Amino acid sequence: MTKKTSHTKFNVSEIRKDFPILSREVNGKPLIYLDNAATSQTPQHVIDVIVDYYSKYNSNIHRGVHTLSQEATDKYEQARQTIQKHFNAKHANEIIFTSGTTHSINLVASGFASILKPKDEIIVSALEHHSNIVPWQMLCDKTGATLKVIPMNDNGELEIDSYKSLLSSKTKLVIVNHVSNALGIINPIETIIKLAHHFGAAVLIDGAQSIPHIKPDVQALDVDFYVASAHKMCGPTGVGMLYGKEEWLNKLPPYQGGGEMIAEVTFEKTTYAELPHKFEAGTPNICGGIAFGAAIDYMNSIGFEAIESYEKELLHYATIRLLEIEGLHIYGETSQKTAVISFNVGSIHPYDLGSILDKLGIAVRTGHHCTQPIMDFYNVPGTVRASFAFYNTKEEIDIFIDGLKKAVMMLS
Ligand code: ALA
Repeated sequence: MTKKTSHTKFNVSEIRKDFPILSREVNGKPLIYLDNAATSQTPQHVIDVIVDYYSKYNSNIHRGVHTLSQEATDKYEQARQTIQKHFNAKHANEIIFTSGTTHSINLVASGFASILKPKDEIIVSALEHHSNIVPWQMLCDKTGATLKVIPMNDNGELEIDSYKSLLSSKTKLVIVNHVSNALGIINPIETIIKLAHHFGAAVLIDGAQSIPHIKPDVQALDVDFYVASAHKMCGPTGVGMLYGKEEWLNKLPPYQGGGEMIAEVTFEKTTYAELPHKFEAGTPNICGGIAFGAAIDYMNSIGFEAIESYEKELLHYATIRLLEIEGLHIYGETSQKTAVISFNVGSIHPYDLGSILDKLGIAVRTGHHCTQPIMDFYNVPGTVRASFAFYNTKEEIDIFIDGLKKAVMMLS
């Protein structure tokens, strides 16, 4: 099997060596990758695990008595346990493998179609990604439930007093992201969960943007559902997780019918498998699941405390340096932020800035970031978003700022 990377002390130059992509060039310049909120880069350890799977034990799981199938099944179930431990779920069967956050959200939304009644209410926040708005709108269309929205203020913070006034005995579900993908704001999910539970509502937290920065403890949070994607934390795309409290997952009906999710099938009646298989119809992304576990191991080998404190430094430094640029406005200014900065410079279109930065080898995301309601709130078509990871450096931030200054000069 592959050698595990281990970092005893946080050393960014050493860490960067784990990521082959960071030494490539783009447009003749060294790549500066500041689009980590869209997807993170993959360390050699995880790449090795993927190559290992396809070179040594590629086979279907839970199905065969043969050696390869047993090896793959063992690794896949070990990965589930790694995820369980990382998020501190009580049982491994509370971890459902999915294709990613969007799949996980749709699974829960589809399950609630058999629970909600007309006049029930669902609360989402103004800071949600489209993938955490549209499935709930579709659920409301199906059930006659009503969607309510926790408003935000100019700093990008959710208005908790307004949230309190939205809650009532009609509230059945509260859905909020842990961290906003567009602004990097960390939401006060502990308070949000407690208040929702006071009214008997279940809570789903979208952790897509928190997991690369924060290690959530689902039992301490007492959250009902927590969802995330592997590719945001050094894993591959196409795989993710749904954590659900056992009692909730037992209550929800299956999402998809197919092989592996059944106990017994006859033409008269089908009975369903126990958790977690009830929600895992069809051949899953086996290699992806195993690599997800490897990515978690890799990030833990660096340590989340070290990651959080280093990224705070990067955020502070980048914020100060960006504010040197005349006319630059940052959206979402609060102390509770991950290393994400969304900004515009005067009336320059974000796309133009992003295109010039790309010519200089600098990758940022531009546009509405799948959060049109946030852009509408600020009355802008989009922003430039620089999102940092623990493998970025202050030197890269300096090059980014120089490039941005050049781009602003060209476009002003
Ligand atoms: N949701 C991802 C982002 O914010 C793709 O860029």
